[in-house]
Amino acid sequence: SVHRATNVTIQHHEVGRELRAEILGKHGGFRGCTIWFTGYSGAGKTTISFALERTLCELGLPAYGLDGDNMRHGVCANLGFTPADREENIRRVAEVSKLFADMGVICLSSFISPYEKDRLKARQIHEQSGLDFIEVFVNTSLEVCESRDIKGLYAKARAGKIPGFTGIDSDYEPPTNPELTVDAGNETEAQSVQRVLQYLYQKKILP
Ligand code: PPS
Ligand code: MG
Repeated sequence: SVHRATNVTIQHHEVGRELRAEILGKHGGFRGCTIWFTGYSGAGKTTISFALERTLCELGLPAYGLDGDNMRHGVCANLGFTPADREENIRRVAEVSKLFADMGVICLSSFISPYEKDRLKARQIHEQSGLDFIEVFVNTSLEVCESRDIKGLYAKARAGKIPGFTGIDSDYEPPTNPELTVDAGNETEAQSVQRVLQYLYQKKILP
């Protein structure tokens, strides 16, 4: 069962977003937000978000990539892939993303995040704090992901060695209303990165 903390109250900071932005911002102005990449394993979430992280950092914009494979080595090391564990994984990493965004960082979060309700909760965690949450659907078909099988996980899953693998015997619910969809199956990584950058310029998140 889940243990809930009692007798805890929110403590307010003496530092606000304006000051954080001044400290961080070579480009001025608060730009903290979370760009949330969702899609099948092998869709290109990590590749696109890490390329974007490099581009943004080179432009002088603080960005940080939070990735499923990495977070599951640390903050989420005690979680597996049951629906309940994925829910807790997404809740936890959404809270971490929110802290990065609140700090003024462009947080690039790449998680399969297969369930609509969990992504909605991640969005709410941000929007309740007045932070932009930009959902990017990395829309690479299961067929393409499986045919590439970069990590060999699909072959393992087909052989019954990974029970509950997304797309094989665990559901993926595609986003119904994402801010952006990138067709990473049919465009290059660089093109996908450009499309996200374009969106950020449009929304004035980038100068
Ligand atoms: S989730 O569903 O959002 O909680 O998953 P996430 O934290 O993004 O972790 C996905 C990475 O874990 C590896 N992996 C699995 N993926 C899907 N299903 C199962 N059962 C599984 N077991 C291990 C895999 O490397 C995923 O990384 P990506 O980058 O998506 O391929
Ligand atoms: Mg990945």
